[in-house]
Amino acid sequence: MPSYNKDSISTGLNTRLIGNKIHFFETLPSTNEKLYKLALSGAKEGSVVIADSQSAGKGRLGRRWFSPEGKNIYTSALVRPDMPASEAPRLTLVCAVALHETIAGFISNNIEFGIKWPNDLLTRSRKCAGILTEMKNKRQAVDFVVVGIGINVNLKQSDIPADLRHIATSLQIETGKESSREAIIQKLYFNIEKWYKEYLQNGFAPIAKAWNNYSIINGKQIKTSASSSVDAQKGIAMGVNNDGELLIDTGSAGIKTITCGEIDF
Ligand code: BTN
Repeated sequence: MPSYNKDSISTGLNTRLIGNKIHFFETLPSTNEKLYKLALSGAKEGSVVIADSQSAGKGRLGRRWFSPEGKNIYTSALVRPDMPASEAPRLTLVCAVALHETIAGFISNNIEFGIKWPNDLLTRSRKCAGILTEMKNKRQAVDFVVVGIGINVNLKQSDIPADLRHIATSLQIETGKESSREAIIQKLYFNIEKWYKEYLQNGFAPIAKAWNNYSIINGKQIKTSASSSVDAQKGIAMGVNNDGELLIDTGSAGIKTITCGEIDF
């Protein structure tokens, strides 16, 4: 494998927008945090940050993202869509579709693999990739969105801390072979650009259709977590609608929707 650096990533990158400016670091606390700061100082749409390792990689819900060197992908991409802030959560689903298509190209068809609401990529019930989106608003509109993506690529079982082994996996563990991080990241940027443009041009319906095709929860019994403002819901997941909400058939209480939050199934 070539050494993982800015040149090896930009050579062969087939995009116009995502990756138009690449910031590569051997190590960072967090690529999301770095790109957020760059965005505040005017970085252009399409800029990406990549690190070979992170010392304080951020997961959803305040969790840490395991980020050792030399093995995985940690990257963040900047978009500045002209849209109401209320629509920004849909971008996470746009990126989940892009991430699914990317990983699908590197694992075989017979491995059970799909999206768990809203954006976890699971292979055989364990997580191989995740997305953390962070945004800044300008009044009621989006100023910018940082989409952070972590993919466990060449981790071996023994590389994963014992407390994560039952929930985390990697492409190497699932396929038994190493994959090129460059090839995956190039495909990832290509797919993010493709689906982001699709959303801007044609609205959310094509994204909802793809997300529902790739979902591993549709038709299954799920349970949402309670929050300070919403009660927990139990029911059958019916997929996302054209507004990016997850529909849940609760039976006696009718169809409920959620726009964010965790689920179990
Ligand atoms: C999750 O909890 O599922 C989201 C994980 C997101 C991790 C990525 S790694 C690159 C980017 N930088 C971060 O600090 N987090 C995201």
